[in-house]
Amino acid sequence: MFYFRQTLLCCILLFSFSLTSLAQQFSDTQIEQRVNALLRKMTLEEKAGQITQLAGMNAHTAEMIKQGKVGSILGVLGAENVNEAQRAAVENSRLKIPLIIGYDVIHGYRTVFPVPLASAGSFDPQLIEQSERVAAKEASASGVKWTFAPMVDIARDPRWGRIVEGAGEDPYLGSVVAAARVRGFQGNNIADPESVVACAKHYVAYGAVEGGRDYNTVDISEELLREVYLPPFHAAVDAGVGTLMSAFNDLNGVPATANHHTLTDILRDEWKFDGFVVSDYNSIHELIAHGVAADDSQASLEALSAGVDMDMADDDYERFIPDLVKSGKLPESVVDEAVRRVLRVKFKAGLFEHPYADPAREKTDILTADSLQIERKMAQESMVLLQNNNDLLPLKKAQTVAVIGPLADDKASQLGSWAGNGQAKDAVTPLEGIVTKLGKEHVLYAKGVDIPPFEKGLAAGVAAPAPTSATGAAGVETSNKAATIEDAVSAANKADTVILFVGELAGMTGEASSRASLELPGDQMKLISAVLATKKPVVLVLESGRPLNISWAPGHVQAIMQAWFLGVQAGNAIADVLFGDASPSARLPLSWPRSVGQIPIYYNHKNTGRPSAPDRWHTGYLDLSNEPLYPFGYGLTYTKFKYSNVSVKSGIVRSITFGGKEGVRGVAGSLHVTAEIENTGKREGTEVVQLYVHDRVAPTSRPVRELKGFQRVTLAPGEHKNVEFTVQANDLGSYDPDMHWIVPAGTYDVWVAPDSASGVAGTFEVQ
Ligand code: NOJ
Repeated sequence: MFYFRQTLLCCILLFSFSLTSLAQQFSDTQIEQRVNALLRKMTLEEKAGQITQLAGMNAHTAEMIKQGKVGSILGVLGAENVNEAQRAAVENSRLKIPLIIGYDVIHGYRTVFPVPLASAGSFDPQLIEQSERVAAKEASASGVKWTFAPMVDIARDPRWGRIVEGAGEDPYLGSVVAAARVRGFQGNNIADPESVVACAKHYVAYGAVEGGRDYNTVDISEELLREVYLPPFHAAVDAGVGTLMSAFNDLNGVPATANHHTLTDILRDEWKFDGFVVSDYNSIHELIAHGVAADDSQASLEALSAGVDMDMADDDYERFIPDLVKSGKLPESVVDEAVRRVLRVKFKAGLFEHPYADPAREKTDILTADSLQIERKMAQESMVLLQNNNDLLPLKKAQTVAVIGPLADDKASQLGSWAGNGQAKDAVTPLEGIVTKLGKEHVLYAKGVDIPPFEKGLAAGVAAPAPTSATGAAGVETSNKAATIEDAVSAANKADTVILFVGELAGMTGEASSRASLELPGDQMKLISAVLATKKPVVLVLESGRPLNISWAPGHVQAIMQAWFLGVQAGNAIADVLFGDASPSARLPLSWPRSVGQIPIYYNHKNTGRPSAPDRWHTGYLDLSNEPLYPFGYGLTYTKFKYSNVSVKSGIVRSITFGGKEGVRGVAGSLHVTAEIENTGKREGTEVVQLYVHDRVAPTSRPVRELKGFQRVTLAPGEHKNVEFTVQANDLGSYDPDMHWIVPAGTYDVWVAPDSASGVAGTFEVQ
């Protein structure tokens, strides 16, 4: 029996691979015909099952699959396990409709990449796309055909733990990154066995939760929704994303999972999205706690009617939809439309032709040398150099360094939160990377302090520190007693330079990991003070999923590097950049606050009637400046760039007023801006040149600046280049008070800039 099943499986596998290219040949019309033909054969119960996703596999779930009561499973991993589940659907259910297997491949599968916030700071969409291609290849080798990524929520509040999963605060950068990630996951053809279907989440405005508290309420204007929170989703839809996930939050009084306005008026009617929407985990059931549904039946009715096509995890659709239809409360046509959307994605993804994973690929395609190389480059390009007094960096290799701090040799934290199928043992720690670079005789190590975990609702610092092991992972001698600040001071005293690795644990970021304080948790500040007292030159390397409070640092340490959580090659990439084998080029994808009291803080704020000024009667605080510690877009390199000769040609920009919400796209004309960028330093470097625009007078007040373009430019010492930007006129527009998209006439400011707070300026007119 076993051999028979294996042989059968092999035949099916061979057959399905030979049909791979066939799947690509189906036209949209043919797919619609296949969807409708299948739909006609389905019973009401099978329809409700097809729009049901359950979490994990067990005997009960297997039985439900056989009865046609499940359309998708989440969280089943491994080709053999997936094939086992798939067999129940494809061989043992009446209509043999394959499952679509979903998983959170957020920043890599087994080759874990930098957390999304970090890679967004590379401003390198090509490399981001390449890294998602690796993630898709690995995940699909393990049987996953659908990732719950990219997370494209704009966030202006670093207290929110999930800021780490997105691309930061800016809708333009967020849109470029969203499209790149979708292209990377889905490839040129989602039917390719190495592609996975992407899912833009969490639709929508989840990043605007009040107080930064996860799952909290959002109440924002339609203008803010359309100008800031929706654009990355629209970009994902334009890039062909197969699915979206509705968000947990209430949005202006209607939870996102029951919000007809966003799910149908905007997503379907305006954007013409033809994929499907899945709810977030249990969020249909949670409509009861939101207070908009009395029970699960009503919750199902509201969610499906609003436009949530598939139910994740709470099994409400499968249990309640047939009766809702039979009792006349829900038209069957609404159910049919949801089923059609799910089947359409399954057909497009080639699941009917190749439902099974290839177990051989799981052995060859995961953690390959090529993938690790791409991850190392992505990690190098994600580190932001915030300060480098007297060019302390790059460090000379011929010296003794003291590597100090609780994150220097912590493998798990290098991966960051929500690290797919990542395993701590795969991670190279900073200590290991530096030892490989310098040789262990030139490296001293002391952990200094432990970072105690948080207990919900309590401040950090209560847990007892765990004893450290006798030898660190890098083979450098450590103490077998508890980490002590004395050991750290002693190591610092013996070294030429100290490299301090501090921050927060990966588990302090991500879902349900909001923080009220941005201070370094535990006794890290005590460690830092003691090390600073040695007067050795200090490089501060911060590992975190959000900006932490380092307002004290610029006057006390020579160099500051924001390393976020960089993935499995973190330690090698950090050593490459610190010792000059690679150069830093990333920029901040958010504004770095001086204090938690400045939050929400973002560069594209409005001017107010009393713009920021030193005198008391202008907007601001009595006890702190309005400015961030570091602005959005900021980041240093190992060289210097001069910006000059900005020139703006706007002759063909036309003033056109549109009527109706649908008139968002398609105006002719564009703006051309050029500026000369020169490398005036002594090393080659890569500059992220940014273009910002400000409309001086419009029917609705405009942000003081808005990013409209960027380019990575690599120049040798002394080299200069004319950098050119073209912006379509339509992309200079804004919403008027009636939510019509217009390109207002008048004067606009423009900056070509190294960050959102400086640059060479020009103006142009829209006639
Ligand atoms: C809840 C999270 O909000 C979402 O991002 C994730 O994809 C699902 N759980 C599935 O794990």
